[in-house]
Amino acid sequence: MRGKLVVGNWKSNGNLAANAVLLDKLRAVLPAISGVDVAVCVPFPYIAQAQQVLSGSTVAWGAQDVSQFAAGAYTAAVTADMLTDFATKYAIVGHSERRALFAESDSVVAAKFAASNAAGLVPILCVGESLQERESGLAETVIGRQIDAVLSVCGVASLANAVVAYEPVWAIGTGKTASPEQAQAVHAFIRSKIGKLDAVVAAGLKILYGGSVKASNAGELFSQPDIDGGLIGGASLLADDFVAICRAAILRG
Ligand code: 13P
Repeated sequence: MRGKLVVGNWKSNGNLAANAVLLDKLRAVLPAISGVDVAVCVPFPYIAQAQQVLSGSTVAWGAQDVSQFAAGAYTAAVTADMLTDFATKYAIVGHSERRALFAESDSVVAAKFAASNAAGLVPILCVGESLQERESGLAETVIGRQIDAVLSVCGVASLANAVVAYEPVWAIGTGKTASPEQAQAVHAFIRSKIGKLDAVVAAGLKILYGGSVKASNAGELFSQPDIDGGLIGGASLLADDFVAICRAAILRG
């Protein structure tokens, strides 16, 4: 039994006052919900605020990116060790917005994954195809390449302490969700690909779905055998919606 995990990705949203309201609400409501792991990935400046509000609660916090480098002359880069200083549990690596808008290559993503792993952060490795790639029948080729980049640097054992998130680019922020069957097919592909290298790691690996997950579609998605929860963008900014998605995960735990 892998158990479910629901992670909010706030992206570049929030301010101290709005975060306080949202975090307080999560802290108050989520402990009553057992049977699902929950985390929020906040912008770097608010990691300390998340730690302050969520310490001792059932909700973990994470970052949305991490430097591939250790400490040194890398202006503006936030290292994995800096994040663990704030008891940060997760770091998202390879989000499609980072890949597309900040030109992060597969090898940079693999280096960020390695840096997270080495520091004891749990990397959430995002993979996913564009609409054009899907329509050209290239979804598995692209996702396979994104995963291979990490495997070649870090090895399959590194996935024992990591999470994979399948986020089809065409479903992110578009209101267009992959159907449960479409998502399940990709999740099964990912698990079987890893399973060819290590069956135990594959069986224990949490594979999240992300892309326009809402309270209204979460249950159906989370009912699929290889969907172990969600990486939630827009709906994670609304406490009631996010809590409802967490509840949907428990019912399908
Ligand atoms: P939305 O839920 O807003 O589509 O975003 C998904 C996502 O990119 C989470 O990382």
